[in-house]
Amino acid sequence: MPKGLYIKTFGCQMNIYDSQKMADILLPLGYEIVEDVISADAILMNTCHIREKATEKVFSDLGRYRDISAHKTTKPVMIVAGCVAQAEGEAIMAREPFVDMVVGPQNYHDLPKLLAQVARNRAGSGDGPGRGILAIDFPEESKFDALPESTAAVDNPSQFLTIQEGCDKFCHFCCVPYTRGAEYSRPAEDILTEARALVDRGAREITLLGQNVNAYHGMGVKSGEWGLGDLLFALADLKGLSRIRYMTSHPRDVDDRLIEAHRDIDTLMPFLHLPVQSGSDRMLKAMNRRHTAAFYREIIAKLRDAQPNLAFSSDFIVGYPGETDEDFADTLALVKAVNFAQAFSFVYSPRPGTPAAAYEDQLPASEKHHRLEILQTVLHAQQLAFNQSFVGKEIPVLLEKTARHGGQVIGRSAYWQNVLVEANPRLIGQVIPVKIKECTLKSLLGDIVGVDGDIMRVA
Ligand code: SAH
Ligand code: SF4
Ligand code: F3S
Repeated sequence: MPKGLYIKTFGCQMNIYDSQKMADILLPLGYEIVEDVISADAILMNTCHIREKATEKVFSDLGRYRDISAHKTTKPVMIVAGCVAQAEGEAIMAREPFVDMVVGPQNYHDLPKLLAQVARNRAGSGDGPGRGILAIDFPEESKFDALPESTAAVDNPSQFLTIQEGCDKFCHFCCVPYTRGAEYSRPAEDILTEARALVDRGAREITLLGQNVNAYHGMGVKSGEWGLGDLLFALADLKGLSRIRYMTSHPRDVDDRLIEAHRDIDTLMPFLHLPVQSGSDRMLKAMNRRHTAAFYREIIAKLRDAQPNLAFSSDFIVGYPGETDEDFADTLALVKAVNFAQAFSFVYSPRPGTPAAAYEDQLPASEKHHRLEILQTVLHAQQLAFNQSFVGKEIPVLLEKTARHGGQVIGRSAYWQNVLVEANPRLIGQVIPVKIKECTLKSLLGDIVGVDGDIMRVA
């Protein structure tokens, strides 16, 4: 009988990729994925530490899992992975002794060894949880070398591929350099091999991932060092790969080669997530972002020059310590000047151990939320106008998965918008022309065009 493995993933795309890799490691040990936690023999929580709310959610869910565990005769193995594991491993062990293992993002390849240790610990203390294991080192060797390769067909034609990990930027608000460690770029050859394997397994779109993905500087194929631009040019030659994306980038690391990639590569999607955080130079300096608002706008202008079809998305933090009404007005001005297709905005959340958490001029929560509402009103209006510009047009859509409502399939436009169409699920994995008839803030709705009736028929 296979053992049930329940995986719960919080946080960014890199955590989604990591959860997939951890599943690849655990399934050969006799596990199968289960969708409900009650029937699980092992619970794996992959956690996020980026804002206080994300961390709180981890502790509240752990409380729930503790209760479930208490009612079972054989306690499920409880594993906490990810960025909260890295940042607060000892606190987790102290608060929740039922946790068997805390494993940081650089230690996943050791899971089989760590699980064997859990079994030994448990054997030494009856069937209850034994002494918890804390594995949060930053080992010398790269975990990527030790991760297994999966051969199963992909569950979605759009796949993630981590090419770079960690961050050396140390923005003053951010926990990532502490939870993920120093920047590390995988060798280009390894990435191309993994990309080829993904395409062979059915991937049509690959999104290259990194906390600071355009800081990529990996060992090139044959010789030298490659930047992200070089890697994109190499991936563009991969037969069967229809779409390439990458995230998340830092404005300071957009170089000429990357701009050329946007100019020359048809399969590189014309949508770039480029976080700016603030439009105020005073705030950008206090955040240690190492760029000004004008520099950001210059980069956008250069990219638009090279590729007029490009649309942009960004991240914003409002209510950073010391942010005045003028600073906030500068952010609104930048948003109006750039015109974003999409954006994520957050109120500043102090993270333990980061410089900004110790600043004295913290803003009251009410002011932070008030500003967030104003900013989001502007950003949402831009996003809706962007979506509306597609109504009546025919666009290529990569069909990805069936929707909850019968007969509908969810796909993505080149600009990463969700597109809902009535389609035969057999078309999943293909890029199909769709005529957009309606839109909302979050999605487009359309009909497949230019294909015969058979293709439309729902299986
Ligand atoms: N590596 C990416 C993303 C980092 S985290 C980058 O450099 O842009 C994703 C987003 O979370 C950030 O861009 C930032 O907008 C937000 N964020 C990070 N730390 C935060 C904090 N302490 N409070 C609020 N938002 C934060
Ligand atoms: Fe965090 Fe800044 Fe690094 Fe992005 S660039 S991960 S915001 S420290
Ligand atoms: Fe969260 Fe860690 Fe990603 S803090 S956003 S899971 S890098």
